[in-house]
Amino acid sequence: MDEAALQQALTDTQNLGEMPDADAVGTVGSPDCGDMVRLWIKYKEKDGKKVIDKASFQSFGCQTAIAVASIATELIRGKTKEEALSMSAEELSKPLGPLPPMKIHCGQMVEGALRAALEAENKPAGASAAPIVTDQSGTLADALSAAGKSQGKIKIILTT
Ligand code: FES
Repeated sequence: MDEAALQQALTDTQNLGEMPDADAVGTVGSPDCGDMVRLWIKYKEKDGKKVIDKASFQSFGCQTAIAVASIATELIRGKTKEEALSMSAEELSKPLGPLPPMKIHCGQMVEGALRAALEAENKPAGASAAPIVTDQSGTLADALSAAGKSQGKIKIILTT
């Protein structure tokens, strides 16, 4: 992994935060480390095609997960749902260089959150491809707090 690129991505973190007017949201947690990422997507029409206008994220994750999420939310802008779905964790983290083995799941977690958001769009309201928590309306901190209170522990489901 390119440490300079990682530090640059963290210094210039893009698209951090909740998106109240999002069209879709996806949340994924990693069973490897217990970290989580939530990703919001907003679409727009361009040249007769529906493309991703913008995306944002929140993360309780390591620096690598934050950097990949930041990069990914920029890389998917202007792409169709199908184009974004075809992007692998390697592509989403490419500017950081190859991730070391112990950090590969960090990129995969971001890919999972992206897929959850992209696939959640066509599902009924409240349903999610990766229902790590049932309430996707608030912030990630709200969800974690609610999950901890209602269940006594947080349920983590990784989509692949
Ligand atoms: S997301 Fe778990 S260590 Fe990076």
